Order: sequence, then structure tokens, then C-alpha cells
Amino acid sequence: MPAALSLGSLPLANALQDTSHTDVNTYLLTVHRCMVCGLVQLAHSAPPSEMFSKYLYATSASKTMIDHFDKYAESLVKSLSHSQDKIVDIGSNDGTLLKAFHKYGMRNLIGVEPATNLAEATQNRDIKVISRFFDGDSVELIGRESAKLVTANNVVSHVPDLDGFIGHVAKLLAADGTFVFEMPWIVDWLRRGSFDIIYHEHLSYFGFRPLSIALARHGLTITGLTHFSDIHGGSWRGMAVKVGHEPGLWSGSYNKLEEIFDIEFRELNKQSLVDFEERMHKIRDALVSMLIELKSKGKIIVGYGAPAKATILLNYCRIDNSIIDFLSDSTPVKQGKYVPGVDIPIVSPEKFHEAKPDYAIMFAWNYEREILEKEQSWISNGGKFIVPFPEPHIVP
Ligand code: TMP
Repeated sequence: MPAALSLGSLPLANALQDTSHTDVNTYLLTVHRCMVCGLVQLAHSAPPSEMFSKYLYATSASKTMIDHFDKYAESLVKSLSHSQDKIVDIGSNDGTLLKAFHKYGMRNLIGVEPATNLAEATQNRDIKVISRFFDGDSVELIGRESAKLVTANNVVSHVPDLDGFIGHVAKLLAADGTFVFEMPWIVDWLRRGSFDIIYHEHLSYFGFRPLSIALARHGLTITGLTHFSDIHGGSWRGMAVKVGHEPGLWSGSYNKLEEIFDIEFRELNKQSLVDFEERMHKIRDALVSMLIELKSKGKIIVGYGAPAKATILLNYCRIDNSIIDFLSDSTPVKQGKYVPGVDIPIVSPEKFHEAKPDYAIMFAWNYEREILEKEQSWISNGGKFIVPFPEPHIVP
């Protein structure tokens, strides 16, 4: 199958380097679309052990996500009857969601998280973390048909064997259990032009058509859908139950799913991915021209946030430390490291304020509202953000 679009060969997005001038591995980033079910996937995969054994992304690094998972837990707890109902969070990261469930009274909480550094940070008396990739053995360890709730947020995109994964979820769920997942929606991604979310960890870019087909193969059906425009640039929360256990509200979700299928049919086809590649080139050219012009006027330019997305945007656009002095990030483990491939240092937010930069590229554009609120005093002293998508623009 021919590639729909390609970003070339780029470093792993979260492979921040301990020292400058290190040689980094690069891997092809090429996207294909299945002609049968419409699933958009990477054509090549990088070694999972290089990507997930020590993971630098922490959910709790942004208030937006902490608040989001707090409300998430609060709303789901209402559907559970007992504090001992088992909840399993797959890809539990630093335990933000499990801790929120704990706050709302739940006491039988299990995380599955392969990154040992994150798994260790989460454990406590009521929260067990199994430090491994979610697989058949995890199901046996936790107990077949034992979970009232299985959650997986921003996980399905990372899964190499989608059928295996969903099959294991179905085995883990109690007969009346619910599978709740969140995932960025490919249509939001296409509309915004945010190609920086294409990276090796994200093997699939989902629409609901391919996902609901995969769920159905394992006896699961989607019964609830909520869109969050502020989460990772546009995400859906879906709920799925075992066929035969659909709640009364199912017909409403059914209609919503039909509407989503129609949108995906219109906006996600072979031509839309070809157009998207064209748009990637335009965004890159506009951003680089803007930066060169500002630099020629002697402006100090830095980056705000060092998400995985920054590695992709910087490497794809070939923007290096001759243009950007540093990226600031609030995550302590990222500070002192270097963005792979472009050798730009990552510093603390305190250094950002000391340096008094003129412009900051907002790499964590998915938290634009939170960041603008937080940086009001820098903005009132003349600081400006460069937001790369939908086309590079200056705020305020
Ligand atoms: P994410 O977009 O993958 O969630 O990552 C966001 C990154 O941005 C994460 O490393 C934390 C960082 N960040 C800041 O440095 N300051 C902020 O105000 C916010 C919201 C995030």
C-alpha cells in the first residue's frame, strides 16, 4: 500500500538526551490508511523497549489534565455500587486517574504501566500497579471477568496488536463491566493540521469506524460518547460494554455514532491525507520564515513546554539551537536534558522568566488556555507566543 504521507526519518519523540551533541537513532515516520476499514497507521514501528521502559511524560504535568481526570473519576464513580468494585487503568502513567478514583472513595484500584519510574510513583495501600505491558498474563494476574471498570486513556493509539489488546480487555471485564477509553480523534487532528502528534509511539490515528469494528469483533459495543475539544487538541471519551448489556441510553449514542461515521466518511479519505501533507509543508515553511525574520531583528526566541510534539515539530522543520535558545518545561525530569536531533536544552520555567524572551513557541499548544492564564505577567511585559497550528500565528 503506498504511503499516504511521510515526515521522513525522525528521532523518537520522548528520547530526550542527557548530553548535547549525541548521535540519536532516527526511524521512518510514514503513515498509511487501510483501504478496507479506514484505520490510519504508521507503516514502520520503532522498538517498544526504547520508547516505553522509562517514560518522561507525566499526566500530572498540567492542571488541565488533573482537572479533567478528576471530573472523569467523579462522573464514573456514580455508576459503581461499592467502594470495592475493581477498577483497572491500563497505561496508568503517574496514577493521576487512579488517585482521583481514590479521592472519590474507590478502594480496589489497579494500574498497568510498563514504565517502571511511573509505576513506582503510583503505588500505595489501595493502589496496586503491575509494571508491564497489558497482555494475557496481566489479565490472569488481575482476574478474568473481575473488573467493573477498565479505563485506557491515550493508550489505544500506542497498541501494536489492537485485536489482542481489545480481546484482553473483554476477558478482564465483568459481564456488566464498562470499558472507558479516551483518544485523540483523527478528524480534529486533520482539521487543525497538527502533524506534530504523528510520532513513533502513536501507531494508530483513530476514527470510530475502524475502532467500533475492532470492538465488535470481541463482543463489545459503544454505548457512550463525549467529545472534549480542549483535551490533546480534541479527544473523544467512548464507553463500551458487552453486547447484551447495553444501558437504556444506548440509542442516543447510536445516533451520535452514525453522525461521527458520516463526518469521518467526508473528511477522512485518501485525498484528505494527500492534502494534509501539502499543508504540513506550508506550516513548516511559514513557521521557519517567521522565525528567521524575528531572529534577524535580534529577538530572543525560546520554546514553551517540551512535549513529545516539540521533538517532531523541531526536527521536521529543522529548527535548531541557532534559532531557539531553550525550551522551558515544568516537568523536573525533563529539565537539564536536550531535545534529540536539534540539540536544544530544556530548562525550568524559572529560567524562562529570568531570560525574558521576546517570543516563545507554544509547543504544548493543547494547553493554550492554561498557559495564557499562567503567563499573563510575561505577556503584559511584551512577551508573545507563537502558536504553530492551524497556521503559525502570534498570540496575543
Ligand atoms: P503534552 O502536551 O504531551 O501533555 O505535554 C505537555 C508538556 O508541556 C509537559 O512536558 C509539561 C509541559 N508544560 C509546561 O511546561 N508548562 C505548562 O504550563 C503546561 C500546561 C505544560
